[in-house]
Amino acid sequence: MIKNILLFATILIFIACNQPSQKMTINKKKPIDTHSHSIPSESKTQHLSLDLTADFDNQILKGTAKYTLINDIKAEQIILDTRDLTIHSVTVDSSMVEYTLGKNDAHLGQALLIPIEPASKTITINYETSPTAAALQWLNPQQTADKKHPFLFTQGQAILTRTWIPCQDSPGIRITYDAQITCPKDLLPVMSASNPTEKNATGTYTFEMKQPIPPYLLALAIGDLDYGDIGKQTGVYAEPSVLEKGLYEFSDMQAMLEAAEGLYGPYLWERYDVIVLPPSFPFGGMENPRLTFATPTILAGDKSLTALIAHELAHSWSGNLVTNATWNDFWLNEGFTVYFERRIMETLYGEEYANMLAMLGFQDLQHEVHALGESHKDTHLHLDLDGRDPDDGMTDIAYEKGAYFLTLLEEQVGREAFDKFLKDYFETHKFQTLTTDEFEVYLDKHLIKPYSVDINIDEWIYGAGIPDNCPSITSDKFTKVDAIVSKIPNGELPTQAMTKDWTTHEWLHFIRALDDDVDSKALDALNNSFAFADSGNSEIAAAWYEKSIKLGHYDYFRPQLEEFLFTVGRRKFLTPLYSALKEAGDIKSARSIYAKSKPNYHSVSTQTLDALLDVE
Ligand code: BES
Ligand code: ZN
Repeated sequence: MIKNILLFATILIFIACNQPSQKMTINKKKPIDTHSHSIPSESKTQHLSLDLTADFDNQILKGTAKYTLINDIKAEQIILDTRDLTIHSVTVDSSMVEYTLGKNDAHLGQALLIPIEPASKTITINYETSPTAAALQWLNPQQTADKKHPFLFTQGQAILTRTWIPCQDSPGIRITYDAQITCPKDLLPVMSASNPTEKNATGTYTFEMKQPIPPYLLALAIGDLDYGDIGKQTGVYAEPSVLEKGLYEFSDMQAMLEAAEGLYGPYLWERYDVIVLPPSFPFGGMENPRLTFATPTILAGDKSLTALIAHELAHSWSGNLVTNATWNDFWLNEGFTVYFERRIMETLYGEEYANMLAMLGFQDLQHEVHALGESHKDTHLHLDLDGRDPDDGMTDIAYEKGAYFLTLLEEQVGREAFDKFLKDYFETHKFQTLTTDEFEVYLDKHLIKPYSVDINIDEWIYGAGIPDNCPSITSDKFTKVDAIVSKIPNGELPTQAMTKDWTTHEWLHFIRALDDDVDSKALDALNNSFAFADSGNSEIAAAWYEKSIKLGHYDYFRPQLEEFLFTVGRRKFLTPLYSALKEAGDIKSARSIYAKSKPNYHSVSTQTLDALLDVE
């Protein structure tokens, strides 16, 4: 009897504690992800059915998002994130309800508060996007490779999905989805889901993603797309004139996938395809599940820039399978992925190749630490992005300091033990989310204690700069390049014969290593011999432009530079080039090229560049 009373009292207390204190207000007590208005601990979305029509004339997506719900604690509301959306109506099961939109925040958008009941099963939001939706880039035909048809693509990471779908936009949430997309009949839509390979007569297509994914991985691209096979699970989507180039460049993709599986366990997403987007895509690649979105600037013609594909593929484990719980834990996605990417490249092309990648990465890390300041908090692996746009903290630190931290752990316990640790880590946490704290507990239990590892983990995760015990990776090939560079100031320039076997990575190291003591005469001579300013390899061209601007000798390639900045929208190239112009005292050129090129850039890039060049 007493037992029963106690039980009853406990249940009552439990119910009382879990009641939202104020109905229809945001009462987030201890937020885990401060970049989302949603409170998944109260009520969660589980499966999304999306039904959208793409209206290219008005540059809007219009339709419905229907979610099934999990409401274990019988919450009286569910909160979704929205930004820049027009909500037409909200239905709970079959009844229209009165919803509330919260205060607008420039980055976080508005909370959409929907009243529900304990037994509510579904919510349906009828809405449309705005032509200014930050996740969407609508391109006119001129901005595509074939210049015949318009194009649309989305970019969700980090918190932009809410600008095209009302959702609980936190990486800590996982949903499955299906979608119906209607678009003009001469275009083909593809998503981060099961995809069609050719156009049909109706213009309506269906999609399914059976594995639960965080909303930042919801993705859609629509264009005049063709498809071609690479291997049994792998293929390429691209505009007709780009497809052959893509198929050649990525011909090792199936082998990459098999190498990745050999390292860290089965690929759990069935297919792995890549879509080559128009050049305005603001990133090198984006790991949308089943369908990586990629920039055409990696189509070098010699497969030399495909580490990027290995990187996005590696995210199928680190990021898509095991996901950072908040953007403060971003290094769990990117640091693991860079480490994994280099292991895939090593498996396919050897240790020397991977070492060159790691050394270029180390240079990026040094550069980033220098740019941010040695003691800056953004040089910590674990970030503090509360109150900021998460995009601001997404620097090379997460990538390179993260990867070097894992390399250090590998050095400590040996490769065999470390590989087993990583494989188990993916298996144990698949389709789950992890905070840095949770990772540390797992690391301690499964690696640090059993192998008596004696290093200061906190110095890496919560400390600034590059710790003293950072592994040092060397490359014989780069040592040879260094010897050649050191002779340039004496007037000894490299010859064709000396460099005939150089790979893109040696050239990149070469250009980066040129110092203030290299004068314009030497720069001219180098460009006459090796035509860097006209290179078809975007990495080499961009590195040459940046270095030459810094060394104050760039008038002769202004037309090529302007053309590059006009066509390419990849932020990784744009930021250093515009910064170099600015620092060279040539802000006038920078602003005038930017004014002309801005319509070709995605909002992700313009947000950074507006601030850099102080323009609106
Ligand atoms: N997930 C990132 C791209 C990203 C990061 C988008 C943060 C939005 C916010 C992707 O996997 C990536 O890291 N891309 C790199 C390429 C890579 C080889 C380092 C890029 O785009 O340059
Ligand atoms: Zn990445």
